[in-house]
Amino acid sequence: MKIEVLDNSNINSRAYQEILSVVTGKAHPVLGLATGTTPIGLYQLMVNGYQQGVSYKHVSTYNLDEYVGIDGGNVNSYRYFMNHHLFDHIDIDKDNTHVPCGVGDLTEQCNNYNNMLSQQPIDIQILGIGVNGHIAFNEPNTPMDSTTHVVALTDSTIKANARLFAHEQLVPQQAITMGLANIMNAKKIVVLATGQGKAQAVKDMVQGKVSVACPASILQNHPDVLLLCDKQAAMLLD
Ligand code: F6R
Repeated sequence: MKIEVLDNSNINSRAYQEILSVVTGKAHPVLGLATGTTPIGLYQLMVNGYQQGVSYKHVSTYNLDEYVGIDGGNVNSYRYFMNHHLFDHIDIDKDNTHVPCGVGDLTEQCNNYNNMLSQQPIDIQILGIGVNGHIAFNEPNTPMDSTTHVVALTDSTIKANARLFAHEQLVPQQAITMGLANIMNAKKIVVLATGQGKAQAVKDMVQGKVSVACPASILQNHPDVLLLCDKQAAMLLD
């Protein structure tokens, strides 16, 4: 795993360089995208890039996860988040943007997502990390060979995500998420981590034993991972 400790303000621009080299370097780039607070600045840079002439017409995207029980029109859905922060502002064909669907027959939704991912391998996957070491919604104890599946969210994740809802009680209890095996299939992975709250998870991811106790630790086994973090998130690293 390559690690770059940067000023907070430079993390998104460094991640954008990586995205741009894929978007401009391939005929049909496939991006793996995340929601959450951390990548919002990166999406703003992608929008700025579009305004300055970068085209996303031939780009396909796959998001990591979605809440169960709310559809893409709901302001708290991850589909809504992606449209709002990125897809509505660039020239991407929305039919080529994929976010798992958390309504309907969930087994079928998981199978469809796995099939699409096996046909269109991800060139670059952007990841955030949860305070408990989750990546996507793969919470501690998720099997390392998991593919897209439905998960019960942990109390800590529900609490962490409650800030985006009017009440904690409104946070869905389940999500549909790419599995760890899907994530490991990406050709390149860029992890973004900022703030002291992520320091323990970053330490476990980078220097801990590879273990289901910290799902992100599986990234130690991937040949091309770049961790971009600020000093606070890196503070526990040796
Ligand atoms: C989001 C996702 C999550 C977040 C993680 C960090 O699609 O899969 O794993 O990346 O919870 O979230 P933030 O960036 O809000 O700290």
